[in-house]
Amino acid sequence: MAKLSVSQLQDFKGKRVFCRVDFNVPLNEDGSVRDDTRIRAALPTIEHIIKQGGRAVLASHLGRPKGKAQDSMRLKPVAARLSELLGQPVAMAPDCIGPDVEALVDHMEDGDVVLLENLRFHAGEEKNDPEFAQALAKLADVYVSDAFGTVHRAHASTAGVPALVKPAAAGLLIEKELKYLGESMENPQRPVVAILAGKKIDTKIAVIKNLLNKVDTILLGGAMTFAFMKAKGLEIGKSYFDEGTDTVAKEIMAMAGSAQAELVLPVDTLVADAFQAGAKTKVVPVDQIPADMEGVDIGTQTIAQYCEYVKNAKTVVWNGPVGVFEIEDFAKGSRAIAECLAEADNISILGGGDTAAAVAQFGLADKMSHISTGGGASLEFMEGKALPGIEALDEA
Ligand code: 3PG
Repeated sequence: MAKLSVSQLQDFKGKRVFCRVDFNVPLNEDGSVRDDTRIRAALPTIEHIIKQGGRAVLASHLGRPKGKAQDSMRLKPVAARLSELLGQPVAMAPDCIGPDVEALVDHMEDGDVVLLENLRFHAGEEKNDPEFAQALAKLADVYVSDAFGTVHRAHASTAGVPALVKPAAAGLLIEKELKYLGESMENPQRPVVAILAGKKIDTKIAVIKNLLNKVDTILLGGAMTFAFMKAKGLEIGKSYFDEGTDTVAKEIMAMAGSAQAELVLPVDTLVADAFQAGAKTKVVPVDQIPADMEGVDIGTQTIAQYCEYVKNAKTVVWNGPVGVFEIEDFAKGSRAIAECLAEADNISILGGGDTAAAVAQFGLADKMSHISTGGGASLEFMEGKALPGIEALDEA
């Protein structure tokens, strides 16, 4: 059932709108914001609230400070960047709960924006402690969540507060994420191709299993494919491999036998004699990986084959670069897939920080239909799991 949308709530005059956002953004060494994608993504909701006369009380976490205040994880630089983007002052609260914060919020005028200090400076946030949730709820007349990146966490600000503050609505970013990710899983334009790649197979097992009966083709890439090669009895040289993951790979291949989707593995791989730029490289079939070399990208034949799948797909879901894209020599596979996606006339939905970083590096981000702001959240969505931060919101 659809969730109540912030766009269905019109008159916010005189109301304190507590808006959970995900401003967990990377910072530079000098403390400034390195990538403001998540801040920009929340702008439509914040602007909607203030244009309707609401008093936007924004709440976020940054990093994992484990319940203690840490200067390197303060949200002040985020307030500065948000203020530039909104073109109006954003007051930085000294904390996220307590009398000083309540006084600051009480003095807000319609259209004002306050950013609360890092929620995770209090242990009660991650524990979803009822008292901490109550203290946050004191700052709110209306609850809005636009923190898609954090909806897989059952924390005080994502699950506790919306149980206490009504109405509890979804922000515009959450709606957009659910539209793209939801349609790709439930009602997609077919054929649907999923590209699942990355280093660690254990972060993708549940997604692969769920997608085996949802999509038409699953293309695998990245270091996790060596577990499959090992499972097939192939030599993988010095390629990345976590002990025991060949058993998982075997299980997935067995499941794929009777599944709806075709599970496709690379036929060749780019191998390198060192894990660094300038290393000696060559493309070899997957059954000829030299003992002293390691796989770092998909090979030319696999690139051609995967691009053909991408071109013929109506919907492509991509999570995880297929090679070590951070090193230019090993980025060819990911770049080729991004280019094919950019040229193809299909719906492209990307998830995960590395995938987003890769297409940004290739200058192709604006050619994708949707780049999710959620890493873990988009994976859990694709696993078919219930997301506590969505469940907690009111029905439309
Ligand atoms: C993320 O970056 O994935 C979200 O902000 C959630 O952060 P977390 O993994 O520390 O809960």
